Amino acid sequence: MYLKTLIIINLFALINFVHANENIVFYDIINFSIPNSLTDKVGNINNGRDIALSRKGNCLACHEIPMVDDIFQGNIGPSLAGVGNRYTIAELRLRLVNPYVLNPDSVMPAFYKVRDLKRVDKNYREKTILTAQEIEDVINWLSTLKTDKM
Ligand code: HEC
Repeated sequence: MYLKTLIIINLFALINFVHANENIVFYDIINFSIPNSLTDKVGNINNGRDIALSRKGNCLACHEIPMVDDIFQGNIGPSLAGVGNRYTIAELRLRLVNPYVLNPDSVMPAFYKVRDLKRVDKNYREKTILTAQEIEDVINWLSTLKTDKM
């Protein structure tokens, strides 16, 4: 009886979940990477760069980015110069989606993670910092940063 109730409650929660998060893409983490694209559209490199330099991505707050003339560039995280050589697209995808998988104490924000769904107010439930397409755009841009020169 208890089990049955539990299953029904879970089923209800699941339906709610799917409904509230129609736009959230589910992904598999394999070998510290997310091999599958979150969208069926190839990431746009220029758009990715714009997002990274914008307030939305805010990557400059913590990272140096090659070939960007910004007075302030962060040094909380490693420079992104040459990051396209150090990581595959699949590894970059996990870095952006949810860096806590790699480092639970990371100060880098998870750009595509919805935390503690059941306890989040309905209005905030499906919010991620970047959209699935924006993640694809940014990682495609990151993969072009091949040189270590700043
Ligand atoms: C609040 C600070 C912060 C922000 C904002 C931030 N990062 Fe990070 N990032 C870090 C830190 C710190 C690391 C080092 C690894 C760790 O601690 O998780 C890191 C690691 C990385 C790495 C791996 C680099 C390497 O050489 O190992 C990539 C790629 C990356 N960040 C990309 C981005 C991008 C792209 C953005 C913007 C969309 C961004 N980060 C925003 C702090 C930040």
